[in-house]
Amino acid sequence: MTAQPSTTHPTVEVRGVSRHFDGGGHTVYAVRDVSLTVPPGELLAIVGRSGSGKTTLLNLIAGLDRPDDGSVYLDGREITSASEAELTALRRSHIGFVFQSFGLLPLLSAAENIALALRIAGASSRDEGQRTRELLEMVGLSARAGHRPYELSGGEQQRVAVARALANRPRLLIADEPTGELDTVTGAQIFGLLQAAAAEGVTIVMATHDPLIVDYAHRVVEMSDGQFVESGEVRSALGR
Ligand SMILES: Nc1ncnc2c1ncn2[C@@H]1O[C@H](COP(=O)(O)OP(=O)(O)O)[C@@H](O)[C@H]1O
Ligand SMILES: [Mg+2]
Repeated sequence: MTAQPSTTHPTVEVRGVSRHFDGGGHTVYAVRDVSLTVPPGELLAIVGRSGSGKTTLLNLIAGLDRPDDGSVYLDGREITSASEAELTALRRSHIGFVFQSFGLLPLLSAAENIALALRIAGASSRDEGQRTRELLEMVGLSARAGHRPYELSGGEQQRVAVARALANRPRLLIADEPTGELDTVTGAQIFGLLQAAAAEGVTIVMATHDPLIVDYAHRVVEMSDGQFVESGEVRSALGR
């Protein structure tokens, strides 16, 4: 279950990937011939307007969706042709997810939400308790372990979601607008947690609108109309 650092392969490699959808009479090219390499431990932020293709690209990287063209490699392994069962197993063991809307199970406490992720991955109940405490401590919520999501603030819920996403020591964390529903200060806390995870070697690919990301990401790329914008000027594009 421990992440196996690979010295020979980037964590994520996207080669010439395209994805289009039927937009009701016309074709929407959500991602157009995109290539991207993300080395281990990098915190990469993808910025861009709504509809520019960020979520589609994240879904393709995580094997939640398949490209019409091109290939995606995780740790050097081509996932484009993997079976659904292989992809599910790969996601469970290799990838953590954080979404805008937190996605916690409402009837479970903070600790139970985290423990469930460990159990699904096959942790023993002894390891489960210890690792859950460790994770709650890491996100600063030891005192809130028994609270259910509705008893927690948005920022606290997202911290639980980050702990849950990191529970199984994924190689890769996919975060889609993780601060989209949070105020600036709370959002910065989430970015700080993700930055700390990257420092521990977790590779992070994040879509965000939040200009604060330039203070946390190792690299920021901008998407527009399904492609990366050719520029190193993303800081200015974000008004920084
Ligand atoms: N399942 C889908 N069916 C049809 N169109 C889609 C689908 N998913 C995304 N799109 C379209 O693809 C484009 C990119 O969407 P998306 O990847 O969600 O962008 P972003 O995350 O940057 O807002 C948009 O025009 C969107 O409407
Ligand atoms: Mg999106």
